[in-house]
Amino acid sequence: MPTREEVAYFGAGPAPMPTPVLAAGAEAFLNYESSGLSLAEISHRSATATKILADTRAALASLLDIPENYEILFMHGGGSGEFSAVVFNMVAVWAEKRRRQAENELGGDEEKILERVKREVKEDLRLDYLVTGSWSLKASQEAAQLLEPLGKGFVNVAVDTRQSNGGKFGTITDEETWKLTPSSREGGKRSAFVYYCDNETVDGVEFPGFPKSLESSTEGKDDERLVVADMSSNFLSRRVDVSKFAVIFVCPSHIVKPVDVLACSLISCRVVHKRTSALLMSPL
Ligand SMILES: Cc1ncc(COP(=O)(O)O)c(C=O)c1O
Repeated sequence: MPTREEVAYFGAGPAPMPTPVLAAGAEAFLNYESSGLSLAEISHRSATATKILADTRAALASLLDIPENYEILFMHGGGSGEFSAVVFNMVAVWAEKRRRQAENELGGDEEKILERVKREVKEDLRLDYLVTGSWSLKASQEAAQLLEPLGKGFVNVAVDTRQSNGGKFGTITDEETWKLTPSSREGGKRSAFVYYCDNETVDGVEFPGFPKSLESSTEGKDDERLVVADMSSNFLSRRVDVSKFAVIFVCPSHIVKPVDVLACSLISCRVVHKRTSALLMSPL
């Protein structure tokens, strides 16, 4: 087994890992638990692979106290893939809620339901982004591009911190200046989600804690803001209250380096009706 000198290395994203951890990983890559096979040689459907994922889920759930109504998903596509996955999934959830509401009020008339949901998409659909650095900027641009076939103006940049910092990222603007889509308590209709990047790897901007203005109100579920956070470069570096988030996603190539092939997402359980995707694809 190759060895290495201990070095001081301060990567902002990919960071150093203890040598014994890497050595154990290297050994597993060559001969996993003395099976005579490398991890790269076994089937991803084998009992061994299934157990590795189950153990990883259990370890994450225990480390972060992840509540039982959350699903831990291992995905392809890295962090950038999540920029799109979040939009597709959360907009589908938003549209499905509206469809159910319309169905309750209009009965089973599919045509009327479709007409109403299309109108509501145009009038009410908003995605709030807190742009505090280059990754949240990219995520907001991706959302705008994905929704462009439906029209413009769906992405609400609630804050772009460059505007209060001489055109450069580097600070988090006072929450009072954020222009979030008003919640129902504030007389609005609430956005499909509020997105932020907990630690902007390139710009060195980290939220000190969960933003106060995104806290749920005590007045009822409909007012709840669904918060999506990119924790790619500070995941597991501190405790977070997972129950405050609808989705946390991570590109663990930064932190859990040897599993470069995995993007790990925590997403709370939500039911999405099959008809929702059909609704979204049909032209307005
Ligand atoms: C905070 C953050 N989000 C997203 C990404 C993008 O991840 P990926 O390179 O896996 O697409 C990175 C990558 O460096 C990142 O640091």
